Amino acid sequence: MPALTDLPTIGPGSHPAPGPLDVDVWRHYHGTGMGGERIAALLALLSPDEHERMARLRDDRRRRNFLVGRALCRHVLSRYAPVRPQDWRFGLGSRGKPSIIAPVLSSPLWFSLSHADGVSVCAVTGAGPEIGIDIERSALGRDALEVAEQFFPDAEVGALRALSPARRGEAFMRLWALKESFVKARETSLGDGLCGTAFDLSRLDDIGVAFAESLHEREKPWQFRLFQLDKGLIVALTLHTHATGPLRLHSAICIPK
Ligand SMILES: CC(C)(COP(=O)(O)OP(=O)(O)OC[C@H]1O[C@@H](n2cnc3c(N)ncnc32)[C@H](O)[C@@H]1OP(=O)(O)O)[C@@H](O)C(=O)NCCC(=O)NCCS
Repeated sequence: MPALTDLPTIGPGSHPAPGPLDVDVWRHYHGTGMGGERIAALLALLSPDEHERMARLRDDRRRRNFLVGRALCRHVLSRYAPVRPQDWRFGLGSRGKPSIIAPVLSSPLWFSLSHADGVSVCAVTGAGPEIGIDIERSALGRDALEVAEQFFPDAEVGALRALSPARRGEAFMRLWALKESFVKARETSLGDGLCGTAFDLSRLDDIGVAFAESLHEREKPWQFRLFQLDKGLIVALTLHTHATGPLRLHSAICIPK
């Protein structure tokens, strides 16, 4: 599986708006602790509705992920447009997906966020709203088959059964991450994403998918990618683009201030 860190890097400073085949994946390592000064600086970037949402979150980890995620995407988006990080305004889709509502850009930008284990990732594209990223720890071992039998299509369960128990957990997490990235790209329910997509991982450079009839999807305009990130993390990316040609993928670290 290719490493996210091996993708061509994104240079410092501002960038032209990404096109329909461009996906930039920004990552930020925030660990589990942050000093009071840093928290205050990030909080100052959030809008009043984000402050309210954050206050409603149940535990410290979720609050930290939310704060860092919003600060990260604000800083990242400001690399592509002359907008200050604190000036972005986001709306939420019917299932909770954030997107830019202001300012209105001449070249629109779309993004997706994910968090795991003290790392947040933010994918940005000019292709359209259907972008999804998911980061997962590749840990589930023993129960992988049980969960797959409950939620995944038969083709995936069969492929997992054929693997040795040692390889099954990793393969399960790859499928899980792809499904979640698809759920986030398409803004569908988790149930539809889990049982309505059957991924074929026999070629990781050309990930295949079969959709359930109920999703009314066609395979062609969807693109899927999997990456390894250090410390056993898996990053899955889904993009819907009508542009033809290979995706232009880049990655870099961003430290929101
Ligand atoms: C979206 C979903 C896959 C998130 O997965 P997760 O592993 O818990 O969380 P991740 O860290 O990967 O992603 C969280 C981020 O995804 C984004 N997000 C949230 N809901 C989303 C959705 N429906 N679609 C796309 N992105 C979404 C947010 O940016 C969120 O980060 P934030 O809360 O800090 O802003 C999961 O919550 C899900 O399946 N939701 C189903 C949506 C649904 O049916 N909701 C019913 C409420 S109406």
